[in-house]
Amino acid sequence: MEFQQKNILDMASLSADDIKLILDTAETMKEISERPIKKVPTLRGKTIVLFFYEPSTRTRLSFDIAAKRLSADGIALSASTSSMVKGETLIDTARNLVAMKPDLIVIRHSAAGAPHMLARMIDVPIINAGDGMHAHPSQALLDILSVRERKGSVKGLKVAIIGDISHSRVARSNIIGFTRMGARVTVCGPPTMIPKGIETLGTSVTYDMDTAIKNADVIMMLRIQKERQAAYLFPSEREYAAIYGLTKEKLTHARPDVLILHPGPLNRGVEISPDVADGPHSIILDQVTNGVSIRMALFYLLIGGARNVGD
Ligand code: CP
Repeated sequence: MEFQQKNILDMASLSADDIKLILDTAETMKEISERPIKKVPTLRGKTIVLFFYEPSTRTRLSFDIAAKRLSADGIALSASTSSMVKGETLIDTARNLVAMKPDLIVIRHSAAGAPHMLARMIDVPIINAGDGMHAHPSQALLDILSVRERKGSVKGLKVAIIGDISHSRVARSNIIGFTRMGARVTVCGPPTMIPKGIETLGTSVTYDMDTAIKNADVIMMLRIQKERQAAYLFPSEREYAAIYGLTKEKLTHARPDVLILHPGPLNRGVEISPDVADGPHSIILDQVTNGVSIRMALFYLLIGGARNVGD
């Protein structure tokens, strides 16, 4: 199957076949990262700009590593060191970047829709590395890959996503992605952190942690995104942790083979206890490893052409 997408903007734009092709390609990329010399010439001569307007550890580093493993030249630009601080607009910045002939732009922005606007205005493939509260498609893809790797398939699995759903682009992208691949998704959190109408994305809703966890095959914990909350939506972190924090005791309600995911960064002792984060059910660091493979796959499918990844 040929990959028909020009950009990766959100999960809603990807069909189940697209998602499967990206995951299968990522699995073939994984072997490159296991080699003593972790580099193939597949994207030699290609220029990839990593344009990050918001802080990031995992996403930015893994896009950068993915570019390097495929021999592309990755150039990073952050808002604080760009001429945006002098008042240059996003679109003027992007037009200037395009004038330097990049082959692909990865963008993270605090405004929902910023990558979509760029994709309409410039003729360079765009990957959305997270836009406001809207979408984080490469995160959902690496999450689905991490679960598929352990379970063989995500079809029919019960996935519970727990925490600050309202402010989470990871939650939105994962609801759409897991649902599209045949999983049943339930979101859970305090009523103040569950947006009205979220069911239209295909998820069910519960405010009760034990109900969400019961018989779950996958539990994805999310942090409280204080940086996006206009006002505190819970009385105190201690109370939040007592009700919605995942602990060993609460895990006794889950299946014995449950997988625990978290996109990071973790707030240990708030949404997840350290013994669960580091415990036998956690695949949090698998997610990070798979983040590199997914981003290699996205680069390859968008700008790699028909060249052999093993070249
Ligand atoms: N998961 C994630 O997006 O992490 P970063 O913000 O560190 O990139």
